[in-house]
Amino acid sequence: MTALLKAVDLCRDYRVHTGRGLFAAKAILRAVDGVSFEIEAGRTLGLVGESGCGKSTTGKLALGLIAPTSGSVRYRGVAMPPTGSPPWRELRRKMQMVYQDPLGALDRRLPVGVQIMEPLVIHGTLLPNEHRERAAAVMEAVGLLPHQFDRYPHELSGGQRQRVVLARALMTEPNLLVCDEPISALDVSIQAQVVNLLLDLQDRLGIAYLFISHDLRVVRQVSHDVAVMYLGRIVEQGEAESLFAEPAHPYTRALVSAIPVTGGGSRRERLLLQGDPPSPVDVPTGCAFHPRCPFEVAQCRSERPKLEPLPGGHPGGRRVACHRVGEPAFRVAA
Ligand SMILES: Nc1ncnc2c1ncn2[C@@H]1O[C@H](COP(=O)(O)OP(=O)(O)O)[C@@H](O)[C@H]1O
Ligand SMILES: [Mg+2]
Repeated sequence: MTALLKAVDLCRDYRVHTGRGLFAAKAILRAVDGVSFEIEAGRTLGLVGESGCGKSTTGKLALGLIAPTSGSVRYRGVAMPPTGSPPWRELRRKMQMVYQDPLGALDRRLPVGVQIMEPLVIHGTLLPNEHRERAAAVMEAVGLLPHQFDRYPHELSGGQRQRVVLARALMTEPNLLVCDEPISALDVSIQAQVVNLLLDLQDRLGIAYLFISHDLRVVRQVSHDVAVMYLGRIVEQGEAESLFAEPAHPYTRALVSAIPVTGGGSRRERLLLQGDPPSPVDVPTGCAFHPRCPFEVAQCRSERPKLEPLPGGHPGGRRVACHRVGEPAFRVAA
């Protein structure tokens, strides 16, 4: 089966200034470095990692909102057309973005209903009198009330605004939504509602998600598959349930061990993450995680580990980038 979206070896560089004044220098920052993944129709790939590891850049590359420095994205086997070109605009109807901050994504001066209809006006697919009908249908699908059509963004709650953003994204009947930290700006009490709404929409409409979040707990709730990023690279990837049950990369293990255990009773490995991630303009040699890794050895400092299938035929298609992952003594007893 052809994947809905297939990204192969994506890289994205930015030119940045480092230092100040007399000592200012230009450097290349590799925000995304050799990232590959597939998303099947109707499934969710969770992309997780600390702030600055390249998640949003990966999301933008997936939609062709920015061009890769190298690598490729295919949608249903077809190469992503150049950003902004007519075929790209056509394709974009099938792939939409949902951002973190619903207020920032909306125009304060326009009633939300007008903004929900916007994608149809841009893409000109239906007759104008059908726009309103379709808007009413998607508003109902996301749990907005008909009278909220005429409300302005500031008259709605944060959760309602995110529903508006979702409704707008759904107008063109997309097959894929890239959700970039879609609930991070919402009150905790509302987060669960929006998560449930996303799950419900997937069930009913068969939409696939690239779900980006720094919050492993949320990623666990929504994802079929998970990719863990560290400094621009995927360090572990695989089927969600098995990855959370038995994380293999020391970084994933540290992230998972930081999730509070609910229900009690179960003993789990505790692996604390030390320090902050290094600067992406000055990525450590070898394994980029080695300065923070409790298991690092000489090889980790000199040789960059490849993302490879976990030894021993692990279920869930797990791939891990770690030199030491195959060593029996390396696993800390839970
Ligand atoms: N337009 C840009 N110009 C320069 N650097 C950028 C730009 N966009 C992102 N970056 C840098 O790329 C890295 C990854 O950023 P981003 O993808 O936003 O990470 P995340 O979403 O995981 O927090 C960061 O170091 C960020 O500062
Ligand atoms: Mg981001």
